[in-house]
Amino acid sequence: MIDRTTRTLADCTISERLLYSSFLLLVGIGYLMALGYLYLTHAGLNGQPGISVEDIAISYYGNRSGTRMEQMLRGPMGAYSKPLETALIVAWLQDGAPRQGYKAVARPILKEECFRCHSGAMAKSLNIPDFSTYRGVAPVTKVSRGASLLTLVKLSHIHLFGIGLLAFGVGLIFRLAILNRWLKWGLIVLPFLSVFADILAWFLTKWDPLYAWVVVIAGAGLGFALVAQILISLFELWFLGWPAED
Ligand code: HEC
Repeated sequence: MIDRTTRTLADCTISERLLYSSFLLLVGIGYLMALGYLYLTHAGLNGQPGISVEDIAISYYGNRSGTRMEQMLRGPMGAYSKPLETALIVAWLQDGAPRQGYKAVARPILKEECFRCHSGAMAKSLNIPDFSTYRGVAPVTKVSRGASLLTLVKLSHIHLFGIGLLAFGVGLIFRLAILNRWLKWGLIVLPFLSVFADILAWFLTKWDPLYAWVVVIAGAGLGFALVAQILISLFELWFLGWPAED
């Protein structure tokens, strides 16, 4: 048995305490900002306020059940269109909304029923799409397929490097905590496992929206592990006695 005295957070000098605490606090604030960003970019995607698993699914898988135009025609905009017109437009949408169809089929109907709001100055002042050009109508005629593969690959390498380093920094401090060893080992590994599972699940969600649950659970695991490491470290740094040196 090797005899060694393990250093703990309570043995840290004042300089170490200041350095560690500043880093942990900054990471904590950064984490809150990340949560805020997540909320602002995902909330309300499904048309309901707040953030839900469905919002997460939509941002990676997309909403493939139909186009925005069809959704609106079957919903609030249905009142402006006769059933036959709706059927013609929906057939055009399900055809992939090609440009020729716009001229031949869609535009005459849209002009008759929708232009008074969805064109020119009126569309601008209501801040709604202008249907008088193909370019104006195109965005609401495409089926959303969620974030592109390129975006996901870009975001994943940033996340893997960034969160990897972050978890390493926090873990370097937290490893000195006095804690049940299994709990400590678990908390040290959890952020790395979570971020890996989270990012893997982004790609899986693009394939099947059910995996949005994994994104959420892994995200919660990462948050839990980081916050626990930060709080336990800060507590032990400042409340477990004082060192002799500075
Ligand atoms: C009386 C004015 C008016 C008429 C007529 C009208 N709309 Fe709208 N439309 C609006 C307003 C206002 C909104 C934005 C409010 C909302 O999203 O619920 C909107 C939103 C939409 C959207 C969603 C736009 C987006 O960016 O998500 C679509 C698609 C749409 N309308 C299609 C139609 C179609 C198709 C017709 C004709 C059959 C039509 N509208 C007729 C006023 C109108």
